[in-house]
Amino acid sequence: MTVSPNPVKSSTYLEAVKHRRTVYGVTDNVSVSDDRIIEIVNEVIQTLPSSWNMQSTRILVTLGKEHKKFWDAVIAAAKPYILEQQSQEDWKRNEDRFQSFRAAYGTISVFEDHTAIEKLHEKFSKFPLTVFEGFAEHSNAMHQITLWTALELEGLGASLQHSHFVPGVEDGIRSAFDIPSTWSVKAEIVFGALSGERPTAPGKEPVSNTVKIFK
Ligand SMILES: Cc1cc2nc3c(=O)[nH]c(=O)nc-3n(C[C@H](O)[C@H](O)[C@H](O)COP(=O)(O)O)c2cc1C
Repeated sequence: MTVSPNPVKSSTYLEAVKHRRTVYGVTDNVSVSDDRIIEIVNEVIQTLPSSWNMQSTRILVTLGKEHKKFWDAVIAAAKPYILEQQSQEDWKRNEDRFQSFRAAYGTISVFEDHTAIEKLHEKFSKFPLTVFEGFAEHSNAMHQITLWTALELEGLGASLQHSHFVPGVEDGIRSAFDIPSTWSVKAEIVFGALSGERPTAPGKEPVSNTVKIFK
């Protein structure tokens, strides 16, 4: 049997992994085409693994004016809750943050479809549903990091957001983009053109505290 060489070196892959950063303050003046962004999303969802191949991840891509509409929906849904439950200062802080995301070019929202999770649970009902919900979260996070990294390898800046944690925001996104009620959003990846230097990597715990090796 001949062993074919791996098409990509692990060092190349790790360089890509290390390139990804949380980048804020991005703009909508991007030079990457919509087609390329959509191609990345399609390749990622067609490639990433899921528990027993359940494929419960769903993705909403909003670009250009649809991205602005996305953040207008977030702002409209978050404002009454934050003003009522928190304070004017909290709203001002949040509004500035939401407006900085709105100034970007695109948002990729990554959902899980509960229908697909329940379908797999029916097949393996001796395990609790929470097992499959957990696996769905794992697979969803794999999609998130891959999309985030791929966008930055295109020269864009991106950050991972969870604006749907504000009550009412998830429903606002659902109604603005006709999202089925069985889809629940896990994260929003906001991306656009860099407006300055890329940030440097944050410090990490020494591996002696975080890795155990026996050999
Ligand atoms: C699971 C997870 C959730 C995160 N949630 C947010 C978030 O809601 N908003 C945000 O601005 N950054 C968020 N981040 C970004 C982290 O703060 C950031 O990844 C971390 O500080 C390390 O910086 P780096 O991304 O440049 O490596 C999140 C990151 C992870 C992995």
